[in-house]
Amino acid sequence: MNETTAPLVRLNSGTAMPKIGLGTYQIADAEVADVIRQAARLGYRLIDTAASYGNERGVGLGVRSAGAPREDFFVVSKVRGADHGYGPTMRALEASLDRMRLDYLDLLLIHWPLPGQGFYVDTWRAMARLRADGRVKSIGVSNFTPAHLDRLEAETGIVPAVNQIQLNPRITQDQGRTYAAEKGIVVQSWGPLSHGASLLAEPVIRNLAERHGKTPGQIVLRWHLDLDLVPLPKTVHTQRLATNIDVFDFRLSSAEHAQIAQLAGTQIPMDPDIHHEY
Ligand SMILES: NC(=O)c1ccc[n+]([C@@H]2O[C@H](COP(=O)([O-])OP(=O)(O)OC[C@H]3O[C@@H](n4cnc5c(N)ncnc54)[C@H](OP(=O)(O)O)[C@@H]3O)[C@@H](O)[C@H]2O)c1
Repeated sequence: MNETTAPLVRLNSGTAMPKIGLGTYQIADAEVADVIRQAARLGYRLIDTAASYGNERGVGLGVRSAGAPREDFFVVSKVRGADHGYGPTMRALEASLDRMRLDYLDLLLIHWPLPGQGFYVDTWRAMARLRADGRVKSIGVSNFTPAHLDRLEAETGIVPAVNQIQLNPRITQDQGRTYAAEKGIVVQSWGPLSHGASLLAEPVIRNLAERHGKTPGQIVLRWHLDLDLVPLPKTVHTQRLATNIDVFDFRLSSAEHAQIAQLAGTQIPMDPDIHHEY
């Protein structure tokens, strides 16, 4: 096992979460355990999956067979749209744990708010119960806007530990980040590399990579860390797994951040008020 795991950030639940994680969206169930074992050897401890990714079985197998104690991992999964509501959420979490063959999750998120369906507050109440029962250590949300977060807090008094949102130098989510900072919510970035090729080929990113002697991916991931975001890059390639986590020995200057800021607004984010996920 690699001794150099990522530094930690403290959540409002009191537990600590690694500052970078492995995304597993679109990694096949049969493949993901092997990717997690490789990632664990390179220092990854935060693993992000979701019921809707269809790979929870493989994620659980990867965590159980990676050679580090279960309590060293930080395993995240998400409640899908079809399971919103109090009873369905209680059952969905048990089904996720059964598939993973784990006793608890470190973090359970509401995958999308689905405001048109109207059940995210009931879903949230079930998650608070699951946390009280010790089935999940922390609870949070994904793709929630400040308006959705205001409603959760107004109706339940419980502020999420994490909001996982689409975020990268093209989609900077200024309002969401400011809101989270005020409320003590840690922001995880999904699509942190904007899915790879086009962001990493931007001249500003390539020039900074050359200046720092880093890869374009490392420049973008360092951008997230400098903004106190927790990126969840996905890759199935050993070399990329290695470089994506090797980002804790440099920083970008404020002038370099100003250069990257020219990319803001060059990608249209998904709209949580209308996106329908099942
Ligand atoms: N909450 C949500 O609604 C939501 C939505 C989407 C995603 N997510 C989570 O966030 C994670 C990350 O998002 P994402 O997978 O959509 O996008 P991403 O991590 O921004 O990009 C992944 C893509 O970039 C490539 N890549 C990774 N590292 C690279 C590097 N160093 N250089 C060049 N290319 C590289 C990968 O290809 P290879 O695999 O071929 O290397 C893959 O095609 C997901 O896996 C999932 O866990 C959450």
